Amino acid sequence: MKVIIASDHAGYALKERLKTVFQNVMEFEDGGTFSEESVDYPDFAHPLSEKVAKQEFPFGILICGTGNGMAMCANKHRDIRAGLCWNADIARLVRQHNNANILVMPARFIPEETAVEIMHAFFETDFEGGRHQRRIDKINI
Ligand code: RB5
Repeated sequence: MKVIIASDHAGYALKERLKTVFQNVMEFEDGGTFSEESVDYPDFAHPLSEKVAKQEFPFGILICGTGNGMAMCANKHRDIRAGLCWNADIARLVRQHNNANILVMPARFIPEETAVEIMHAFFETDFEGGRHQRRIDKINI
């Protein structure tokens, strides 16, 4: 599976670590940023979200300091369901119940080990459908 990943400067180090840890499990398209120089998170969240919304990639991963800026940008896009995850249980539920197609993580608030657990939980969990499909059908405006 090929996924797209992007971060701002606050998420850069975690993005690079996750690409290394999961290099044998999935392929990554790197949407930047490419250093710890200060950048603006919308410049990375919007292009990634457009590509996921157009189904160029099944899933995206966005990382910034708190995760909130990235999630706010991503969720402006029709058909994007970006979930901010800070532990593996939330990551599992955002797939089971919300069919999230973008995983958002707060690099300044979770240890790397937790981010790895979140990645496993998110990518190893399927959407449950049923009553949850009815609910997500009501998200787009
Ligand atoms: C950058 O300092 C920080 O504001 C950003 O990474 C993110 O936390 C915004 O939501």
